[in-house]
Amino acid sequence: MKKYDDIYAKDQDYFGHTSKQFTTMFSNLDFREGTILDIGAGQGRDALFLAARGYRVIAVDTSRVGLEQLDQRAAEYDLPIETVHADAQGYTPNETIDAVVCDRFFHELPSNARVKCLQRLMGFLKPDGYMLIADDKSVLPQLRDALKKEKFDFLRDKNGILFAVKPM
Ligand SMILES: C[S@@+](CC[C@H](N)C(=O)[O-])C[C@H]1O[C@@H](n2cnc3c(N)ncnc32)[C@H](O)[C@@H]1O
Repeated sequence: MKKYDDIYAKDQDYFGHTSKQFTTMFSNLDFREGTILDIGAGQGRDALFLAARGYRVIAVDTSRVGLEQLDQRAAEYDLPIETVHADAQGYTPNETIDAVVCDRFFHELPSNARVKCLQRLMGFLKPDGYMLIADDKSVLPQLRDALKKEKFDFLRDKNGILFAVKPM
C-alpha cells in the first residue's frame, strides 16, 4: 500500500514497540508453540515479538516496504517469520492456524468489508485457537458481534482489545 510504503520508508519503527497489553496477554497464554497469522503486520513489531517467543509467524501485509524491513530483521535475529505480500481479504493460508493477530488492521478496511474479512480469518483458526483484535473502539462492535455469533469465548474485551477463543 503506497501510503504505508511511504510512512515505513521514512521511519523504520513507525509504530514503536509492541504494546504492554499485547505482550502480557501472550506471555500468559498456555500455548507455547504453533503458527500465528499476523494480519496487516506492517513492519512487524508484533511478529518479531511472537517469533522471539518461539511461535512461527506468517505476516501478511500490502506494504512491500514494511515486509522488506521485517524480512531483514527476521534474518538478522534468525526468527521464523514468513512474510506474504497480499491483500488480507483474499489471502488463504496453507495450514491450520493457532492464533490470528489483527493489531490495528480492521480500521484500514471499508466498514462494510470488515465482518466478511473477520469471518474468513475465523475459518482459518483451529478449534481452541485464539483471535486477537486491537483497534479503534468505534470499529469493534460489529467485530465483537461476529465473534459472538460464532460462539467465541472472550478472554478480554477492554480498552480497544478483543481477545477470544474459538469453540471446540
Ligand atoms: C495501522 S498499520 C498497523 C501495523 C501493525 N499491525 C502494527 O500494529 O504495528 C495497518 C497495516 O495494515 C496494512 N493493510 C491495510 N490494508 C490491508 C489489506 N487489505 N491487507 C493487508 N494489509 C493491509 C497496512 O499496509 C499497514 O501496514
